[in-house]
Amino acid sequence: MGSAIVRGLIADGFLSASDICVVERNEKRRHVLATEIAGSVSLVATVPSAEFYLLATKPQDIAEAVKAAMDVNEHGILVSIAAGVTLETLHKSSSSGSICVRVMPNVPAVIGQGLSAICSDDGTPQSVNEFVAQLFSAVGDVIFVDESKMNLITAVSGSGPAYIYLFAEALEDAAVALGLPHEMAKKIVQKTFVGASLMYAVDDEDLRSLRRNITSPGGTTAAGTMELERYAFRRAVFSAVEAAQKKADQLGAT
Ligand SMILES: NC(=O)c1ccc[n+]([C@@H]2O[C@H](COP(=O)([O-])OP(=O)(O)OC[C@H]3O[C@@H](n4cnc5c(N)ncnc54)[C@H](OP(=O)(O)O)[C@@H]3O)[C@@H](O)[C@H]2O)c1
Repeated sequence: MGSAIVRGLIADGFLSASDICVVERNEKRRHVLATEIAGSVSLVATVPSAEFYLLATKPQDIAEAVKAAMDVNEHGILVSIAAGVTLETLHKSSSSGSICVRVMPNVPAVIGQGLSAICSDDGTPQSVNEFVAQLFSAVGDVIFVDESKMNLITAVSGSGPAYIYLFAEALEDAAVALGLPHEMAKKIVQKTFVGASLMYAVDDEDLRSLRRNITSPGGTTAAGTMELERYAFRRAVFSAVEAAQKKADQLGAT
């Protein structure tokens, strides 16, 4: 996710490559990143002094990354994308009075189509909020939210692409099981997801209307949809979001 954001920033032109320094401790991974990230971004093994630190480690490694940043610049501004890690936790591991911002992006950021939810403490300088919003605008849309909603947003938009991939996979598997060749199944499922998503994104109609438009009484879509309902599709989705939210709560508590 960190490298996706860096690539987005460079492609967008909001920051120039020379303004960015990527910390990657693993030597092999540094070489891979050098080919993935175009331009003259410096890739280093240890944390340098910087104005902003974008923390893109796993949640359990955040405290260590914060400490490494604070050791070189105790006034550095911390921007964390770690699931579940609260502003309070960031403050606990950083210097007193440090500025912390919490962001939850999602994986379509890789193609500039992400959605990033941002929250920060009351009293965070407007210039910091604006800078972070501009950073994440380079990889998609941004919204400011209250921190109390962050873990739910994580469960919906952060994890959401995985639920959608699982559904696409199930649709592909069903198509193959019922007789379509693999390549054809993949192609038609891909196109169905992209087409339906674009209609959802551009159409001002709600989802029920979009669905009703293609559901003739007594027809094929009605028959298929009834089966999804019979197998408690909605209940499964609700439970998935609830479980992911709970997991984010737990990550924040550790
Ligand atoms: N993937 C998503 O869709 C998504 C969406 C939203 C938010 N996030 C959040 O983004 C974060 C990263 O997720 P990811 O999937 O990109 O994980 P990832 O691929 O494991 O990337 C984490 C990176 O952080 C490095 N790292 C760990 N500790 C470090 C330290 N102290 N200093 C410098 N680098 C350190 C790791 O290096 P080593 O391998 O050497 O440990 C690894 O390269 C997570 O907190 C996740 O909650 C992810």
